[in-house]
Amino acid sequence: MKPLLAAHGLTKIFRSPSAEQSAEPTTGPLAGPPAGPLDRPSDWPATGPSAEQPAGLPAGQPACLEVALEVHAGEVLGLVGESGSGKSTLLNLLCGAVKADAGQSLYRDALGLEVDLQNVEEVDRRRLMRSELGFVRQNPRDGLNMNVSAGANVAERLLAGGERRYDRARAAAAAWLERVEIPVRRLDDSPETYSGGMLQRLQIAKNLVAGPRLVFLDEPTGGLDVSVQARLLDLLRNLVAGLRLAVVLTTHDLAVARLLSHRILVMKGGRTVESGLTDQVLDDPQAPYTQLLTSSTLSL
Ligand SMILES: Nc1ncnc2c1ncn2[C@@H]1O[C@H](COP(=O)(O)OP(=O)(O)O)[C@@H](O)[C@H]1O
Ligand SMILES: [Mg+2]
Repeated sequence: MKPLLAAHGLTKIFRSPSAEQSAEPTTGPLAGPPAGPLDRPSDWPATGPSAEQPAGLPAGQPACLEVALEVHAGEVLGLVGESGSGKSTLLNLLCGAVKADAGQSLYRDALGLEVDLQNVEEVDRRRLMRSELGFVRQNPRDGLNMNVSAGANVAERLLAGGERRYDRARAAAAAWLERVEIPVRRLDDSPETYSGGMLQRLQIAKNLVAGPRLVFLDEPTGGLDVSVQARLLDLLRNLVAGLRLAVVLTTHDLAVARLLSHRILVMKGGRTVESGLTDQVLDDPQAPYTQLLTSSTLSL
């Protein structure tokens, strides 16, 4: 069977750390763990192209270098690696929110047509992102409209997708709130009154209400307390399995990757160092870097 998503040669080189803003910001109060000794790949050139950098590309640090991957229907792929290894950049390249310097991200749509999310009209890409695809941001505030009610956040996705009847959209929003374990009486409340865990569940409802086929999750449990994380992970696992969703998720937490992913791709310095079935990679890592990660007591 043909994959739902097939990426080839995805490469992104940021010209300078401050010159460019990513379309899906990855920093904020809920951004990953604090910087540690493993946080910056030591093998990057400070400036200028390295010998391994493909010719004809801009000078700078490669956040992603010639990454290839496939995702099949119903499959969960986990992108793991230390902070700064390029996970969020890769996710943004896959969905076309960040333009690659090279490479393709070929999505097979509901009609069976192949769309390169790196090379599609923005209006069509956005339509896909609201219907067949979803993107759950690490910081739920980045993926929600904090100025309208919780219910409106979810209903809006359906109304934007062509639903004409507000009562039907509202009923669907209420049903989705229930599915993500938010009391329906909170439907008309502002998201500002929600806790962090509830906000993330609301963002998940918003991204699932339109019945997407493939969802990108960027560190979905990243900013949450441990107890809240466990509950969210459980919910995500059940939703993904129940809906037979295809998912690409990033996490710096190997336990999260193990719980949710069928397959894992390990990244370091923007490159793939190892990939395979989750148990295989985590229980019998082949690459020295993966061995270090799995044996390390450092949280990734
Ligand atoms: N918008 C940007 N502008 C410049 N550099 C960026 C931008 N986004 C990410 N980077 C750099 O690319 C590298 C990979 O970042 P990122 O994809 O966020 O890693 P991860 O999600 O694995 O923590 C980091 O060194 C980061 O500083
Ligand atoms: Mg990230």
